[in-house]
Amino acid sequence: MTPGLAPAALAALVDAVGADHVLTDAEVTAGHVVDWTGRFRGATPAVVRPRTHDEVAAVVAVARAHQLAIVPQGGNTGLVGGSVPLAGEVVLSTARLAGVLAVDAASGHLTAGAGTPLARVQDAARAAGWAYGVDLAARDSATIGGNVATNAGGLRVVAHGPTRAQLVGVAAVLGTGATVDDLGRLEKDVTGYDLSGLLCGSEGTLGVITAVRLRLVPARPERVVVALGFGSMAGAVEAVGRLRRALPDLEAAEAYGAAEAELVAGHLGSVPVVDAPVTVVVEVAASTDPTDGVAEAVGALDGVLEVHVAADGPRRAALWRPRETITEAIATVGPHHKLDVSLPADELGDFAVEVERRVGEAVPGARTWIFGHLGDGNLHVNVTGVEPDDATVDDVVLGLVLERRGSISAEHGIGTAKRAWLGRQRGDDALATMRAIRAACDPDGILNPAVLL
Ligand code: FAD
Ligand code: MLT
Ligand code: ZN
Repeated sequence: MTPGLAPAALAALVDAVGADHVLTDAEVTAGHVVDWTGRFRGATPAVVRPRTHDEVAAVVAVARAHQLAIVPQGGNTGLVGGSVPLAGEVVLSTARLAGVLAVDAASGHLTAGAGTPLARVQDAARAAGWAYGVDLAARDSATIGGNVATNAGGLRVVAHGPTRAQLVGVAAVLGTGATVDDLGRLEKDVTGYDLSGLLCGSEGTLGVITAVRLRLVPARPERVVVALGFGSMAGAVEAVGRLRRALPDLEAAEAYGAAEAELVAGHLGSVPVVDAPVTVVVEVAASTDPTDGVAEAVGALDGVLEVHVAADGPRRAALWRPRETITEAIATVGPHHKLDVSLPADELGDFAVEVERRVGEAVPGARTWIFGHLGDGNLHVNVTGVEPDDATVDDVVLGLVLERRGSISAEHGIGTAKRAWLGRQRGDDALATMRAIRAACDPDGILNPAVLL
């Protein structure tokens, strides 16, 4: 059932952003209440769409005055149920805070509204002779504000680090109504607490990010992509470790298994590119042609069953396509549990085998799909054939991760999906400190009450 909104609160929201941007019709708001996986579905009395920082501040003021909870929402591509109104919150959509506001080509900084899709940031960086260091398959829908709020990782972390490494500063409205304005920050600046850094990865629980200033990376136009076949995940891990040492220009090292390759091929109506238990997709990017160095490094590896090389754009895209389509292909199997975890390198190979065994034992009928960012020790364990609210597989997978000294969230965040596990990962003192920070930034508890803590 959709929760109601008191007439005075509705009128105040209309005052804040204009009647055209307070959406209450359930048919119109339907896309905002269910997450990308279909596992998390909520209800909202209204979706509000502010256009400026001041309008965001006005919405936060209304929320405080009327005790309304808010869920900030960007592209709604988040995978941990954090972007949808599970407790009947008002959705604050950043769709109208979109646009690249400035590119400082001399310093290599770019400023954009929080609702700008990641792909537009990448295009603007490229047009200025730079590149943006983060890339995800959801680039056309995921917003830069959502990326900062989740500290998104993606396909290039092995080269450039996650979103946090690209962040110079943000503009945001905290739950107190106070403004953080770090958009004018310089590359070097150690003036007190890093409030922008704190907002990065806070998943909408401390403030609403309205704009971001990002550090760009040099464009590296010469690229080679190689798809390699291996007999096991352990063999692939060993090879990726060697490639990282041999190739300073390594930009990505991703992996998926044979079952995932078959699933994607069925979905795309094609055949798997590589016929081996594990495929590793490697991209190397440099200012001069890296082909010879790549050939030498690959030639020195042990256990390589197949090699496919692509240098031109369309063939590179063809080698990337199966990896980039896995998420979509798994979604066609049905609602699924997504467990995004990282492990020490020496645990990865064994974990991939053991997790499948334990899930199969705990939930007969469940199917495990594993792929991920091997260069960062980050595996995505997806499980289908389980009811959305049955947490058994989550407990099995995350329990094994903690046993093996891993992290229960490598890049997607805690959201609502992993809330129960945060204390087990971080401990009581860290949790108490997080609660204190949250209370200082959002004393009325209006921001994302179903998320994180
Ligand atoms: P949303 O989903 O709308 O929100 C995510 C969280 O951020 C929520 O808690 C929300 O409240 C909060 N939030 C959003 N905007 C703001 C704001 N302006 N201010 C404050 N809080 C805000 N993630 C990765 O890390 N790596 C990947 O490789 C990757 N690949 C993906 C591939 C696909 C096909 C899909 C569907 C998702 C993928 N994701 C990946 C997950 C997702 O794209 C990222 O988490 C992304 O950063 C979310 O951005 P968004 O704009 O969609 O945020
Ligand atoms: C990916 O690496 O493709 C994403 O994180 C999405 C996912 O985990 O499904
Ligand atoms: Zn990922």
